[in-house]
This record gives sequence, C-alpha cells and structure tokens, in this order.
Amino acid sequence: MLAPVSFSPRTTSRLRLRSIIADDWPVIHRYMSDPSVTAWLPHGLLDAASARAFAEKNAGRHAEALAVTLAASGELAGHMIFHPWVVTRTWEIGWVLGAQHQRQGYATEAARSLLAYAFETLGCHRVIATCQPENVASWRVMEKLGMRREGHFRACIHRPPDGWWDEYFYALLAEEYFVAKRLASTFPPKS
Ligand SMILES: CC(C)(COP(=O)(O)OP(=O)(O)OC[C@H]1O[C@@H](n2cnc3c(N)ncnc32)[C@H](O)[C@@H]1OP(=O)(O)O)[C@@H](O)C(=O)NCCC(=O)NCCS
Repeated sequence: MLAPVSFSPRTTSRLRLRSIIADDWPVIHRYMSDPSVTAWLPHGLLDAASARAFAEKNAGRHAEALAVTLAASGELAGHMIFHPWVVTRTWEIGWVLGAQHQRQGYATEAARSLLAYAFETLGCHRVIATCQPENVASWRVMEKLGMRREGHFRACIHRPPDGWWDEYFYALLAEEYFVAKRLASTFPPKS
C-alpha cells in the first residue's frame, strides 16, 4: 500500500507529485464539485464533507491517490489515482485535473513519472487503467502512454437509477515499458 511516508515526491519538468495532505481538501472540493470534471467519475461530485474525507484518507496509511502540483507555484492542480490492483505486482493508475489545468499535457506528464516509478522502483509487472469510451481525453492519455486497449466492457457500471456505462480497459506490461524506453533512447523523437 502507498503510505505517505513511503512516497518521496517526484518532480517532472513542470509538476511535482507528492502525497495528499488533509489541508488539500478545499482545493480538491473546488475541482471535484465542477460537473465538467466529475462527469465520468463513478462517484460523481464530491461535497465538502466527502472532499475532506477523501483528503484525510489519502493523507493516511491507506492512500490511493497523490497530489499533482505545479512545480513553479506549488498550486494543487489535481490528483493521480495510484494504488495496488487486485492482482499481485499490478497497480491501477488514473488522473483528475481541475478544468483550468486540462489540455496542457499535465496528465500525461504526471502519469509518465508514475509509470517509471511503478516499473523501475516498485517492480510492477503490469499497470492498468480504465475509463468510459466517451471520455476521449482519458483514453488519449492512456494511448499516449503506450497502454494497450485490452477490453471494451458493455454496460458494466451501474449509474442509478437506470443507466449503465461501458468501460475501456487499458494496460501496460513491464516488458512493453522497458522496450519503449529503450527505443526512445535509441530513436529520440525529432523536436
Ligand atoms: C482526463 C484528463 C485528466 C486529461 O488531462 P490532460 O492533462 O488534459 O491530458 P493531456 O493534456 O495530457 O492529454 C490529453 C489528450 O487528450 C486530448 N484531449 C483533451 N481533452 C479532450 C477532449 N475534451 N476531447 C477530446 N480530446 C481531448 C488532448 O488533445 C490530448 O491528446 P493529443 O496530445 O493527442 O492532442 C482531464 O481531461 C480531466 O481531468 N478530466 C476530468 C476527470 C476525468 O475524467 N478523469 C479520468 C477518469 S477515467
């Protein structure tokens, strides 16, 4: 399990990923009470009490999410879901950004850092991610990370009172991650 004591902050060119702290809850509440942000999140909008509970849980021993902050200012831009999944050496990854921080490549940048951590430090065998087919931004991030679409589950998530969501299931194996990393160092993208 990812406890705050065991996660050392990670810095990318524009971001700093750190453990969530309880005092993050007002900002989390701000973006998690924006319907455009939560439209494709199974739990939907978070009210103040739920945002506080989310921050407290993820500041503790059973954290399942990390804060995404802007390296330059320290502003909390959103959070990454990152925790062990049901199968051994397999973790789940996910992403949520406040509306003003979207479409700037932040989710991909943060996720690349966590995939490196998952495969190179934690020794993961596989990292998985899920989203709804309508959530193009989310599955575009998965594909930019080199994750493969492994499944399209039909009407598998219940949306009360009578709706059902489809789900895409993506994954990346350690061997795929390391092959892609080797290729990128051999053939760096042209700038
Ligand atoms: C999903 C999310 C985290 C993506 O974050 P982001 O930082 O904007 O993503 P990136 O900029 O790294 O990359 C997004 C890709 O999707 C594309 N994209 C972004 N928003 C899009 C939209 N509304 N429709 C279609 N494509 C979109 C971008 O163009 C980019 O692809 P490209 O590089 O090929 O052009 C963000 O949209 C978000 O927080 N959404 C609300 C929460 C959510 O739904 N989380 C996922 C739950 S499964």
